[in-house]
Amino acid sequence: MYNLKGKTAIVTGSGRRNGIGEAIALKLASEGCNVVITDLGATKGEQFSKEHIGTTDEMEPIVADAKSKGGDAIAVPCDVRYEDQVIHLINKAVEAFGGIDILINNAGVGYIMESFIEFKEESWDAVLDVNLKGAFLCSKHAAIQMIDQGNGGAIINIASQAAKSGFPFAAAYTASKHGMIGLTRSNAVELGQYKIRVNAVCPNHITTGLGHWQNKFFSDKLGLNYEDYLQTIVDKNPLKRTGLVDDIAKAVIFLASDQADYITGEAMNVSGGEEYH
Ligand SMILES: NC(=O)c1ccc[n+]([C@@H]2O[C@H](COP(=O)([O-])OP(=O)(O)OC[C@H]3O[C@@H](n4cnc5c(N)ncnc54)[C@H](O)[C@@H]3O)[C@@H](O)[C@H]2O)c1
Repeated sequence: MYNLKGKTAIVTGSGRRNGIGEAIALKLASEGCNVVITDLGATKGEQFSKEHIGTTDEMEPIVADAKSKGGDAIAVPCDVRYEDQVIHLINKAVEAFGGIDILINNAGVGYIMESFIEFKEESWDAVLDVNLKGAFLCSKHAAIQMIDQGNGGAIINIASQAAKSGFPFAAAYTASKHGMIGLTRSNAVELGQYKIRVNAVCPNHITTGLGHWQNKFFSDKLGLNYEDYLQTIVDKNPLKRTGLVDDIAKAVIFLASDQADYITGEAMNVSGGEEYH
């Protein structure tokens, strides 16, 4: 149905077990895609500690899982904040698989949360550099490659509910995700002539990865235990559950495929309809 067999996809931030990126990469592999598993790979100071990032040790088993699902896969460490590393990532994908058809900008930092009036400049820079500049750099160099190949392509930005609403203690995260929607729309308009479609997916409350950390942060702030806080989320969600990494992976597969070949510049909520309550 999706016709993704033999296509090549890069998924940033996919080197962490149980994350959204891993789920997207494995779903693409199960559709027969070649996948490039890429993540930071190694810790970098306090802001990018082992607790929060995907390391090379984790990336290799994810590559093995992707291969067992039916796709081919490689691991390439890349810090998306640096253009030379992004160019290296693109080159490695082309070297291994001959081109790039799909880019998923999933790498994100959501665990740096501070009250706005205490927000540190280095915290702001860390969040914006990964979430927004990283998506810009990866999109730029993937688009150059896709234009050169001449067969179009799909770029999907993993934004957030915070791309459309405000959240306390998360000014940098919220601004970066709003910016991602702007990047999505601008790139959709400019790259459409090359048959490159650019869309965004906006998840909420996935209980793994940085979502778990954010849920814990907000439950502490509200003085609720973690389970009671999650229940308040479930209660106000029309579909009466929190999100799963697979919910996001399924939306991504659709947007990456020909089934979505007249859809570009969209920012699709995958949130159980929470926004409409
Ligand atoms: N979990 C949720 O509820 C939720 C909700 C909305 C949006 N999102 C978005 O989904 C995406 C994935 O989040 P997740 O919940 O799976 O969390 P996660 O922490 O498991 O994934 C984020 C990944 O980004 C990687 N990363 C961080 N800095 C990087 C850098 N400089 N270069 C390359 N990679 C880097 C991390 O190593 C990690 O693997 C993020 O963009 C996040 O903002 C998540």
